Amino acid sequence: MLSAEELHILSFYRASELAGSMLLGKLALHTNHDHLRVPLTEQCLEEAKHAWMLTQTIDKLGAVPTKITQTYQSELGKVYGFPESTVDILCLTRVLEVVALETYQRHVALRGVTPAVKETLEAIIEDEVGHIDWIQAELEKYAGGPDGEKVKHAIAASEAASKTVSEKFYENPLIQRYLELAT
Ligand SMILES: [Fe+2]
Ligand SMILES: [Fe+2]
Repeated sequence: MLSAEELHILSFYRASELAGSMLLGKLALHTNHDHLRVPLTEQCLEEAKHAWMLTQTIDKLGAVPTKITQTYQSELGKVYGFPESTVDILCLTRVLEVVALETYQRHVALRGVTPAVKETLEAIIEDEVGHIDWIQAELEKYAGGPDGEKVKHAIAASEAASKTVSEKFYENPLIQRYLELAT
């Protein structure tokens, strides 16, 4: 049986994965960069799979995912602004991946984590590592190009925005209570 805190946190992960998938799907559909079409489509699929894995886990534990409207993606967009270039998109995707990976790693390390949740998060973690690798490699190509300075600035801005969103996440009383209970 899931606690209210655990259900909230899992529902938040699920919503963020789903929002990530939808965002990547839109990018895969609209991008003018031929070489990004394949990896963006694949990542859209994997984020949808993560949302589904979390949904199944919540369902198996006898609960229904809670409706969450404030996801990492929506909050990051508010701080960073609407991504206008491919570099912006890659920067935002990169920090979203990093924050997801760090959050899941922190979660599976908690003593009180439900075994089924731990298993799901560990499977997701494996995929997220691959996501970070290709985006990082892609960004490095841009950072070494003629717009290198602009790219480095965008990377720094996205990291600052991500830090703000992450801090807000951990300020949520439900999240704090969960961390207290499970640590
Ligand atoms: Fe994911
Ligand atoms: Fe990912």
